[in-house]
Amino acid sequence: MEKSYEKLLENNKTWAQIKINNDPLFFENLAKGQSPEYLWIGCSDSRVPADQITGTNPGEIFVHRNIANMVVHSDMNLLSVLSYAVEVLKVKHVIVCGHYGCGGVIAAMGNKQYGLIDNWLRHIKDVYRFHHTELDAITDVNERTRRFIELNVIEQVNDLSKTSIVQNAWKNGQTLHLHGWVYDLKDGIIKDLDVNYTSTKDLHAVYHLDKI
Ligand code: CO
Repeated sequence: MEKSYEKLLENNKTWAQIKINNDPLFFENLAKGQSPEYLWIGCSDSRVPADQITGTNPGEIFVHRNIANMVVHSDMNLLSVLSYAVEVLKVKHVIVCGHYGCGGVIAAMGNKQYGLIDNWLRHIKDVYRFHHTELDAITDVNERTRRFIELNVIEQVNDLSKTSIVQNAWKNGQTLHLHGWVYDLKDGIIKDLDVNYTSTKDLHAVYHLDKI
């Protein structure tokens, strides 16, 4: 009996062949280097593949994914990806993309204990606390969840703008736009939350960092 994972390796061979058939230099060109214009910070959820839902090809989008698309400023993984994308690759856009129906955000709304992951969900609970007046006023649970998912994305964009990496890029005159999007699992459409940050002007003064 064929093992399920073997199917993936077969698919890979077929995919590579199709690419070569379309463009014999496809891999040769990609192997020379990358200069993606976008950094994507999305959820690990298997239903939200960054490149497929944006129609981007290999080489076009630099990707970081974790549970509930979080920007945690003590997360060395996120910081390393952000630093490399902004300082070396010089991406022009950083997109935080959440998704309606996000299990991480839904879990953070509840009180069930899950174990180690509760420490990660804590960051999302903090977002609820910041916005509890607005969220508690929404009586429909589905609507409240959807709004919480949107607010979580907006908060992660705020957190991006607080990082020294993003602030230094702006101070150095680098073009860098921060975006907040939400993907809808039910229709495949991405909603732009219009959180288009291009400077620290919207950030509380306490977060402003002077140029080194
Ligand atoms: Co999710």
